[in-house]
Formats: sequence, structure tokens, C-alpha cells
Amino acid sequence: MPDLRHVPRALAVAAVLAAALLRPPATAAGDDPGHPWLDPARPVAERVDLLLGAMTQDEKLNMIRGHGLALIPRGRVAPVPRLGIPELRMHDGPHGVSDVRGVTAFPAPVTLAATWDTALARRFGAALGAEARGKGVNVYLAPAVDILRVPQSGRAWESFGEDPYLASAMAGEEVAGIRGQNVIATVKHYIGNNQETDRMRVDAVIDERTLREIYYPPFEAAVDAGAGAVMCAYNKVNGPFACENPQTLTAGLKDSMGFGGWVMSDWLATRSGQKAALAGLDQAMPDDPLFAANLKAGIALGTFPAARLDDMVRRVLTPMFADGLFETGYGTPDRDVRTPEHTALARDIAVSGTVLLKNRDGILPLTGGRIAVIGTAAHDNVEITSAGSGRVLPPYVVTPYQGLNARAGGTATYSPGDAAGALPWDVDKRLREAADAARRADVAVVVVGLSSQEGEDRPDLGLPGNMEKLIETVAAANPRTVVVLTAPAQVLMPWADRVKGVVSAFVGGQELGNALASVLYGDADPGGRLPMTFAARAADYPASTPEQFPGVDHRQVYSERLRVGYRHFDATALTPLFPFGHGLSYTSFSYDSLSISGATVRARVTNTGSRAGVAVPQLYLGFPPEAGEPPRQLRGFARLRLAPGESATVAFRLPERAFQVWTPQGWRTVRGDHTVQVGASSRDLPLSGTLTR
Ligand code: BGC
Repeated sequence: MPDLRHVPRALAVAAVLAAALLRPPATAAGDDPGHPWLDPARPVAERVDLLLGAMTQDEKLNMIRGHGLALIPRGRVAPVPRLGIPELRMHDGPHGVSDVRGVTAFPAPVTLAATWDTALARRFGAALGAEARGKGVNVYLAPAVDILRVPQSGRAWESFGEDPYLASAMAGEEVAGIRGQNVIATVKHYIGNNQETDRMRVDAVIDERTLREIYYPPFEAAVDAGAGAVMCAYNKVNGPFACENPQTLTAGLKDSMGFGGWVMSDWLATRSGQKAALAGLDQAMPDDPLFAANLKAGIALGTFPAARLDDMVRRVLTPMFADGLFETGYGTPDRDVRTPEHTALARDIAVSGTVLLKNRDGILPLTGGRIAVIGTAAHDNVEITSAGSGRVLPPYVVTPYQGLNARAGGTATYSPGDAAGALPWDVDKRLREAADAARRADVAVVVVGLSSQEGEDRPDLGLPGNMEKLIETVAAANPRTVVVLTAPAQVLMPWADRVKGVVSAFVGGQELGNALASVLYGDADPGGRLPMTFAARAADYPASTPEQFPGVDHRQVYSERLRVGYRHFDATALTPLFPFGHGLSYTSFSYDSLSISGATVRARVTNTGSRAGVAVPQLYLGFPPEAGEPPRQLRGFARLRLAPGESATVAFRLPERAFQVWTPQGWRTVRGDHTVQVGASSRDLPLSGTLTR
């Protein structure tokens, strides 16, 4: 049974203790004439040159391979004490330090993306970095920025959703937050790792323009924000494996994006030695003596250039100096690294990432009365993390029932309702009990959910077991029914018409129940917006042939090209169940006064209701038709809190890239009239104008 205690005092003491114990290494002797690279006053490039010049070939080879797999850290690169090079300690994960006690279980990145709040993304990265540092980790294996191409993706919860612009904004801030804690950020999984099925073999066939416009941008944003490492993926991309692909690693990542850090393999994704290194792989993880040995033999035989080994080592050392690894002290895995601030942040993200999808007759916010909380996902089987390398061990979980019951002054009831964990002869009994509980209450809140995980995709887009039946049973018993969805990505909602309210929390972390209580009772406005499109039917999603997903004969073709997510729904005039960017507030907003001056677009947003609330104005750009682009693409957003009657003018400054497409000659601005649309979601765009380039 989850534990509701918060022990903030104990956490504060732990934080002070941890800070006192994190002393910098004794070797950081900047004025040591024998180790001039240890002088932090020297420029990074100079320090790298000095150190490289002092290294033997074996010491160089040491830097490009891992040394043993463990639970924490998941990967190590041996230190070189002679030269004062610290050990690299690499660890996951996406929403908290994985598989170890004494950490905060934050909401998953998909919930963070649903906040559309870049300041929260920065704080999220800083908190992950601080907890990682406290656990002794100096290379963090996050963020994962693979675009959510298919809702079935087992790692959907680790992603920032379906749109490259939103994912880029989140990725850049998270990276900056992690680095700010003297921890190297690793952006992953490069590239074409958008499904789990067959991930060790499948060839992702993606044309260059699609790669550049849809899949590369979040990596580019992470690189621009200073990510020190890029993890190459298990799968193949247009033929070669991602970890030995010269087109994506060298031409795309290093040459075009200007990435100066190192490419590390995903765990056991190195398939060759010299071939991979010549294609752009810099480091084999987690323990691969063959890679280094093959390079060493190649140098001796003259088949592998020693200069490339120097380049590889330079790429590892550069972020180590730039991010302060030589000067910083790191903790140990047994530390309790939680803080009251991190607990509060976990709750803030969960609140801000809660999306109100439907609110017929203003059923929400709740105004008191008796509430029946129904569904095993509300209490017995709460979905707040996942299996796989990203699993987090939560110190406690405030369950939806606990949070709502506390807010309702202890008057809420709970019934499991669905069959998860039930014996066959109890199934109907549970449904009957749930219907009875709903009948006796003023409002029924049905919590449904599921998790997905690394290594496998969801087999379908339905809710598991008899959850759909539960929703229908409860809705028939009490028309005042609200469904709360706790899931990593989209599910089908054939029941959506039968209930008055639908809320998505995605993967809400340890504070899920408190966050839901705040939003459902209106203590906080539901500020979340969808980072993905919810389709009415499975066949409406863009990659719905077997050739596209999960692929045939180990080959998956990205034939939808640029039409990922809402781009496809717009291009084919399909009506989604809930569009990308959608999310209701408890107040109302109007949009007016669009003005366009040069590449700056301004619009005014006014809170026209009687409550304070959160608006997320979004700007979509449409290219001239001959560009062959999807009808509209997100190019700007803001998150505003407005008091009743209050207005704010948002300014979107569009960079030249906003007007460019990828051509065989590189990025080219498309001349002509671009359509500018501003509003509350990709399908609610009251303002429009024209911007001529
Ligand atoms: C995952 C990576 C992870 C690595 C180390 C792999 O299975 O794909 O995301 O960082 O393991 O745990």
C-alpha cells in the first residue's frame, strides 16, 4: 500500500547533509605544474589539448569504452588517476534517477511536455541533475527526444510528444537544467528509434527531408543547449545501423548540427569496431573490449587513423571540462537526494501537465458533495512509472483516491470496479459495487490507466481488461461521471460521448493524487495542453499500415513523411477526437489584435471569464502551397496566467529557420506568403494573417 507521508523535515536534513558530503575531488589541483589541464581558469579547448598531449594510447583507448554493467551506475568509464581524469558514471533516467531508493519520482517527460512550460522543463532538468549528482552520477542518460510517431510506442511516456517544435523547446531546457548541475546530459536515441518492436534489427527507412524537419530538430536543440553526449540507437537507419551510420552520425549530427561532444552507443548497440568509429561512433557502452581492441589493431596496421582516436577522445574530454566534471564532487548511490523543493516541483509539473479534455455542463471543477472514486488505477494499481531502464522507485505515491479523499475531507468512497487483479467470479460483483457507489454519489470519478515499457509496444490502443466496460457501467449508473486517464499516450475513447468530463494526467509521478485533487477541485486551473493528437479511430493515425508500423521483414517505411501527428490530420482533413494543443481551462479566453511586423507576430489574449486561469496561445505557420509542407506547423507558444478581465500581448519572434525547408542543397527559405494562425489549439485558431518572406 502506498505511503502518504512526506517527511519534509527529514528531507531537509538529508539535503543539508548531502550538500556537506559532496566535496570536490582532492585532485583538482589547478596550479599543479605537472597537470596544467586541471586549471579551471584555462579555456576548455586548451585544457583538452594539454591533457590529450599527455595521454598514452592505452589511456586514450580507455576513454572510448565502458567498463562493466551494474544497476547503478549503468555504465562506467575507468578513471585515469595518473592524469586526474575522473571516472565517468552514467545512469538513467527519464523522470528520476532509476532503480535506486531515496529519489524523487517526477512525472514522466510526456506530462512535462503537456505543461507547455519551458521554465518547468528547466527546473525539471536541474532537479534530475542535482539528484543524479547526489547519487554519484556525472553523465545523465536523458533526455530521450524521439518523436512520438505512433501512439503504441512503448517509450511514449519518455517522449515529449509528436511535435518537433514543442519537443525541441522542452529538450533544450531540460539539457540546460541538467548541465547546470555539473552533470553531462545525453540526448537519445539517435535516430529512427520511434518504436520498440524489433528495435534491435528494424531498418527505419526515412527520407532526408523528413529526418531533418521532423526527427532531427529536438536533437539539434539539445546540441545547441550543450548536451555533451548523444546516444545512438539500436535500429538501422536507411541501411546501416544507427551506431555505424556515416550519414546520420557524421554528416547529420557532427557536420550539420555542429555537435562537438561524443556519440555513445546505446547499451550493446555497437556492432563493429573501425567501421563504426569511422562512421562517427565515439564510445562503446557499457563494456565492449572488442571496439577498443579493434581500433588499436587498426592503428598498428595503418587501417585506422590515430587522428580519429584523438578526435574521439577530444569529444569525450570537451564536455567533461565544459560541464565541470574535474572540479565537482559527486555523492554515492546510498544517499537520500530528495528535497522538499523537488517534491513541490513534482507536484507542480503534475498539476500543470493535467489536461482537461472535455467538460460538458461544467461538471468540473467539483464543488463539494459526495464523490465516488472508482477503478483500480485510482488506488490499488496506480500508474506513475514504467518498466525498463527508465523505471523509478517512488518513495511514496499519493494515489488519486488518497488525494481526492483528502481534498474531500475524508468523505470520498473507493471501489476497485475493474477486473485488474480480481478473481474471475469477482468481476461482475466489482462492476455492481462500482455502479452502486456511483449511484450513491453526486459525482463519480473513474480512474483508468495503463503503462507501457521499453522493449515492447502496446498491442492495441484500447484500455486494458474491462476498464471500458467499467466506464460504461458507471456512466449508466450516474450521468455525472468524470474519467481520469493515466496513460503514457493516446488511447481510444469509444466511451467519450457517454461521460461528462475527461481528464488526462499522462504519467503523473509520486504526487499524482494531490495534483489531481488540485485540478479537479479547481484549486489550480487545468493548464495542460495535449502534446499529441487523440484520434477517434485507430486507422486515423498516420502510420497505420504494417509497412509503416511495426514494419515488414525488419523494414519500416516512414512513408507518411512530414505528416506526423496533427500534420497528417490537417493534411487529410480528418477530425481528431481531441486535437494537438487542446486543453480546456475553467475560465475562457479571447484572442484578438494580431499584428505582424517583420518576423515578429503579436497577439492579445484576454481572460473573459470570472476565474484566474492559464492560457497557452499557440502560433502555427503555413508555407506557400508549392513548398509541399503540411498545412500548419507549430512555431511558437507561451504559457500565461491571467486574472479575470486581464489581457496580455504575446510576441512570437520567428527565426529564419521557421520559414525554411530542407532541400538537397541544405536549408532554404521559402519565398512567398506564409499563413500565420494564432489560437488555443491546432484546431482552434481564431486569428490569422499573412507574413511575406
Ligand atoms: C536503453 C537506453 C538506456 C540504456 C542504459 C538501453 O536499454 O535503450 O535508453 O539509457 O539501456 O540503461
